Amino acid sequence: MRTYRLEEFGDIEGLVMRKEALPKPGANQILVRVRAASLNRRDTMILNGTYPLAPRAGIVPLSDGAGEVAAAGDGVTRFAIGDRVTGSYFARWIDGRMHPCVVDQLGCTLDGMLSEYALLDEQWAVRLPDHLSWQEAATFTCAGLTAWSALTGAEIPKPGQWVLVIGSGGVALFALQFAKLMGCRVAAVTSRAEKADRLRALGADLVIAAAETPEWGMKLREVTGGIDLVVETGGPATFAQSLIASSLYGRIVLLTVQDQKGKPVEIPGAVYQRSLVTISRLFVGSRNGLEAMLAAVATHRLKPIIDKVFPFAEAREAYRHFQLGDVFGKVVIDGA
Ligand SMILES: NC(=O)c1ccc[n+]([C@@H]2O[C@H](COP(=O)([O-])OP(=O)(O)OC[C@H]3O[C@@H](n4cnc5c(N)ncnc54)[C@H](OP(=O)(O)O)[C@@H]3O)[C@@H](O)[C@H]2O)c1
Repeated sequence: MRTYRLEEFGDIEGLVMRKEALPKPGANQILVRVRAASLNRRDTMILNGTYPLAPRAGIVPLSDGAGEVAAAGDGVTRFAIGDRVTGSYFARWIDGRMHPCVVDQLGCTLDGMLSEYALLDEQWAVRLPDHLSWQEAATFTCAGLTAWSALTGAEIPKPGQWVLVIGSGGVALFALQFAKLMGCRVAAVTSRAEKADRLRALGADLVIAAAETPEWGMKLREVTGGIDLVVETGGPATFAQSLIASSLYGRIVLLTVQDQKGKPVEIPGAVYQRSLVTISRLFVGSRNGLEAMLAAVATHRLKPIIDKVFPFAEAREAYRHFQLGDVFGKVVIDGA
């Protein structure tokens, strides 16, 4: 089988394709014929050696991928041959609160999905909705679940409340789509004005181009009366404006705490002094969260937004394209 491994960290030259023997599933394991995989910001951080969780040397990258069960070891009960599955980001985190025993991640400390076949414990995978193509099905594990967790974590926003999403990467667009499913109103901020129409077409009720309105926090607050929930993917570049935009008792789910150069988010004291906003954090989500999200996706026949699809042999090109940052939705790599 053909498999990519990260043999060195630092740049894309470290991503190398190898031919390896097909693994045989052991007890409670499944062998998945991977049909597509997709990229998240964390995959570029793992490649560049800046991810907070140290990756294993020679790891098969990417948490996100979809395929069918090709073989099953003794004792497998969750799946049968031919079932369509995707992996769970924190493979060992089934439910409840995150704790130190469940930090292992696909594509970081456990071999991931950028491979012709992936060997997974049956507990690390979930079944996929039927209406999704392979490319679509390969996009939910990290960005989808993160957006879902941000919206359904502590308190689900009520219909009519305002949700703010930032940028047009995977997390932001899933958050936009899920917030619309929940009957919320959505404001979107983008650094590229030319994306405004596409954000509106996805259901954004209000779109602000940050370059044209750098003080967008006050503008949003005036127009909406205050944002109820911010899905904060921008980090230090946007956090202060998100706080200004928030309603008195608003909530900010802070997903990005530092930018790619290591600059951290700073809380502007003068603004926060006048605010009762709750700032919370999360790490993607558990397997039960993934299953709950996919049930909603199936019910509403929701389709993810795909920016571009690359052939398996061009995985390095896919990384390069994603790293440039000018994406609208998910960057997908087709199966081998
Ligand atoms: N805590 C967690 O569990 C968790 C989970 C997943 C992701 N995250 C974080 O959430 C953020 C979003 O992740 P993502 O995978 O959805 O997508 P992403 O690729 O980081 O987001 C891309 C979007 O960000 C905007 N952007 C602006 N300047 C950028 C630049 N210099 N480089 C890249 N993007 C830029 C762009 O939108 P516009 O062109 O519209 O401005 C772009 O489409 C990341 O910081 C990631 O680390 C956290």
